[in-house]
Amino acid sequence: MRIFRKNIKCVNLTSLILLAITVLCSCGHKEQPAKICLLPLPRQLLVEPGSFEFNSKTKLYASTTDSLQNEITYLMEKIPLVLSTESAGENNRVELILSNEIEGIEAYNLNVTPVKITITARSSAGVFYGIQTLMQLCPTEVYSRALPAEFAVPCAEISDSPAFPWRGMLLDCSRHFMKKDFVKRYIDLLAYLKMNTLHWHLVDDQGWRIEIKKYPRLTEVGAWREDVKNEGDGEKYGGYYSQDDIREIVDYAKVRHINVVPEIEMPGHCQSAIAAYPELSCTGDSLPVETRWGVFKEIYCAGNPETDKFLKDVLAEVLALFPSKYIHIGGDEVPKYRWQHCAKCQGTIKRENLTGEEELQSFFLRKINRFLKENDRIMVGWDEIAEGGLPEDAVVQSWRGFEGANHAIKNGHSTIVSPTSHAYFDYDVKETDLKQVYRFSPIPTGCPLDSIHLVLGGECNLWSEHAPQQLVDSKVFPRILAMAEVLWTNPTERQYGDFYQRVQKHYLRLQAMGVAYGHETAPIIAKQIFFKGNGPSLFLKNTSPDLEIFFSVNDGPFCVSNAPIMLKETSCIRGIAMKNGKRYGDTLVVHFTQHAGIAAVYKLKTPFSEYYKAHGEGSLSDGFKGSPDFRDGQWQGWTSDDLVATYDFSEDPITLSQVTVSCLQSNNSWIFMPAEVCVEISTDGTIFTTIGVATPNTDPRARGHLLEEIKVSFDTTTVSYLRVTAKNAGRCPEWHEAAGSPAWLFVDEIILE
Ligand code: ACM
Ligand code: ZN
Repeated sequence: MRIFRKNIKCVNLTSLILLAITVLCSCGHKEQPAKICLLPLPRQLLVEPGSFEFNSKTKLYASTTDSLQNEITYLMEKIPLVLSTESAGENNRVELILSNEIEGIEAYNLNVTPVKITITARSSAGVFYGIQTLMQLCPTEVYSRALPAEFAVPCAEISDSPAFPWRGMLLDCSRHFMKKDFVKRYIDLLAYLKMNTLHWHLVDDQGWRIEIKKYPRLTEVGAWREDVKNEGDGEKYGGYYSQDDIREIVDYAKVRHINVVPEIEMPGHCQSAIAAYPELSCTGDSLPVETRWGVFKEIYCAGNPETDKFLKDVLAEVLALFPSKYIHIGGDEVPKYRWQHCAKCQGTIKRENLTGEEELQSFFLRKINRFLKENDRIMVGWDEIAEGGLPEDAVVQSWRGFEGANHAIKNGHSTIVSPTSHAYFDYDVKETDLKQVYRFSPIPTGCPLDSIHLVLGGECNLWSEHAPQQLVDSKVFPRILAMAEVLWTNPTERQYGDFYQRVQKHYLRLQAMGVAYGHETAPIIAKQIFFKGNGPSLFLKNTSPDLEIFFSVNDGPFCVSNAPIMLKETSCIRGIAMKNGKRYGDTLVVHFTQHAGIAAVYKLKTPFSEYYKAHGEGSLSDGFKGSPDFRDGQWQGWTSDDLVATYDFSEDPITLSQVTVSCLQSNNSWIFMPAEVCVEISTDGTIFTTIGVATPNTDPRARGHLLEEIKVSFDTTTVSYLRVTAKNAGRCPEWHEAAGSPAWLFVDEIILE
């Protein structure tokens, strides 16, 4: 293919990397950390001249050693200090002072002068946050317990308090089990960022992770799944936390002012419990602990008194382990198929005069809510808990956008906000990058001023289907730095450019803490541009000024990307990015298919989903194909509906002999091939005649991410009007784990030849 480019300099990739490294080394690049680089940004910061010098004689004084014992011990583990009981008159010391004059339960003042450092707060939590800020003023070695004997911190006056009281992170230890010390390490990392909630996801289909003495099979059976991915060293993959482990973790978190909120999923996402105790399900059938990812129809029977007893017994042990006022009961993604076909569940609906399965779910959760309330706890659940009626006083965690939060607020319920659009750190940075997280505000647009207090805060969620322990850091960092600032810093003080600069400096701190952080963003944006007369082109652009982008076409040499690449034939374009002389991020691969329908205008009978819209209108005739990753931004999706595209070629009829609909199947995610593809033509745009129908070859039961081009061939025909229909598979079939739920149809291109 020909590339219409001026001034392109082609080099091979190896020499490019070597050149970049040489340039970097020869200019002696060395980061000079600024004196003060706080993250999250405090409410008020006044930098003063001079510094406080720590040395072997520096003392620590606390206004009370009772309430501040944890803070004293914590600080002395980080910075060697000599404990003093002198209430006044000494220089060269750090003072921790509890004072009712500070407003705000988590607020603190930190004052660094050449003679002493004072942290004043209303509570021990405030003192702890003051210590975290002090540590951020110290040399990086404070995080690796390798401080020099003498060091200085800059003088400053800081007044600080958080924007939101709930600053959380969800850690999913069910899909992948994470070791006790790893969980503790995350507690330390949360503390560094002044976050205060560890939402600990302990139950899901793929593993039950909390020891329950009354039901030993939960961990004997439910904590172990067949090791189909060869992740462990035996036949089974899994693990669990003993009650002693949990007490240890909760105590560790308490010292760091982190509340651990356990999540015990119900009535769905609980196949691990049913594997251990099949009598808890509607069928009583014996089932394995699930090994696949997705949503499964095996849920607790809502018409069985044994289930109520089981859940109350389990929760009684959970409450004894977790002092948290809030207890998370899950409540998300509950397929109702089993309840629809269960005599006991249907009997309960009838007896209790319920309108159907949604109200049955509400009935089920209200009983749990009552139990938690009797025990002086507050129920938290995902936004589905509102379906069929919100249990009294329950807190709604909004994940499907902000709708759950809005609904909660309207009904006077508190909410925690963690939408997939900003807070899902299992998503690739291609979808949710650092800047996108920073754009987040937990307060939904239009939230009345007098209801803002109902927004407790937000969370970032680390679902671990694709994140075994060794990959967690790279998904969580650096994006959690943005989340921490969103939840702590006053929105009017936040500014992305300034935050980004501070992130660059905090990488040194993360390195000292041994954090294997990942990328800030997908480095390359592939911009598709259509030039009238010249046809389609692709411009690979950097997403940040410190990234340099190179491209190659059909495995040719890599060239600097500084202008659009004109596309005249079917081709594969690869893009790579360099940052500070090093490769940054994954290679971007774009497949372009040349065909007669490029840029053809069509009308859709039913619009694509707002969640899967590729590049919007025209995406099915732009020539760009998707990858097996349905979230790669090239796929358009329809849930339940068919794709019906109608083209008007009446002014310039087109000659065709084949129409291809390019589709994806990923049935774990409820995406199926279409039932059929039908091609119709018309001479007047009103009466259409079918000229061909094709069905996919892909087996609907086949797992994985499967691509198929479904081709409809016919005798060469001149076409004025064309209608292409890809018929949605309808519902997930009987055998499917989410039987009866609406199926998705995913298409990336309609190829006309
Ligand atoms: C969720 O992501 N299913 C809460
Ligand atoms: Zn049932």
